[in-house]
Amino acid sequence: MFQVKPMSFEDFPFATKLANTMNWNMATEDFEFLASLEPEGCFVVFQGSERLGIATSISYGKVGWFGNLIVKEKYRNKGVGSLLVKHAVNYLQSKGVKTSGLYAYPNLIGFYSKFGFERDENFSVLRAETLDSLAAETLPKVGTQQIQAIAEFDSRCFGGNRKKLLESIILEAGNLSYCKFADNEVVGYVAAKVYEKMAEVGPLICQEGHVDVAASLLKTVLGKLTGLSVYVFLPKKESALADMLSSFGFKEDFCVSRMFLGQAVAKNCIYMAESLERG
Ligand SMILES: CC(C)(COP(=O)(O)OP(=O)(O)OC[C@H]1O[C@@H](n2cnc3c(N)ncnc32)[C@H](O)[C@@H]1OP(=O)(O)O)[C@@H](O)C(=O)NCCC(=O)NCCS
Repeated sequence: MFQVKPMSFEDFPFATKLANTMNWNMATEDFEFLASLEPEGCFVVFQGSERLGIATSISYGKVGWFGNLIVKEKYRNKGVGSLLVKHAVNYLQSKGVKTSGLYAYPNLIGFYSKFGFERDENFSVLRAETLDSLAAETLPKVGTQQIQAIAEFDSRCFGGNRKKLLESIILEAGNLSYCKFADNEVVGYVAAKVYEKMAEVGPLICQEGHVDVAASLLKTVLGKLTGLSVYVFLPKKESALADMLSSFGFKEDFCVSRMFLGQAVAKNCIYMAESLERG
């Protein structure tokens, strides 16, 4: 008999170890961060006292995101993964979510389709092993004064309200964020989470058609990440940005498909993901 429980502090070491069997490069702090953003939305499946699998979800008003689905190898194909998907989707819907998104490995598109998720765009996970120094551009930093405007812009592009996530990233010391305004309107912004040896760039959101601004935002943030291993989650269709990143030494690590249950969102903008587990 399987039982789904909200993930608690004592589950973080299990979650981290299990996630890293897939080389997801997770630390207990990552689950702590997810649970702080969505305390009831991260899950563990138990059989008696044994932990079998995990998944996480986060709600942003009408949009929610699902991720970190993994089941211990010897318990696969017994319904645990399906239980976690259904449980998390029900949880998100109980929070008012109308569209749930996720990033699927290509071999799991069929698995998620069984629950009604439909394939949207393909994304490349790009990585520069050690980023060289670049002739950086300089756009203004996002300060506390701009956060409200950035969050409103993000919400118009993304379709859900990610203020809680954006604040946690932008206000964290050591992280980076830059924006581009024109006529008092946000044209685009970028944020990056910076760790000791690596950094993840994203979200980067720009008004549709402003590839030049997206390129400037990217160059501004990458100019500050010299020497780090850097990840970027880029839609495959953004070929101009892909070419630029390739010239900076980025290579495709793997690719994923964005899938939605409900109406597709984040369509009419240039959209680079924040992370695979949070959108
Ligand atoms: C994906 C994963 C979580 C599924 O967990 P699970 O407990 O085996 O899932 P379930 O037992 O509920 O479902 C497996 C079912 O999906 C089916 N399935 C598996 N892969 C599939 C695919 N690519 N297309 C369609 N169906 C698929 C299985 O045949 C099985 O069908 P059945 O229930 O009719 O027998 C598990 O394989 C896993 O941990 N994989 C490694 C981590 C991973 O890749 N996570 C996903 C990141 S996007």
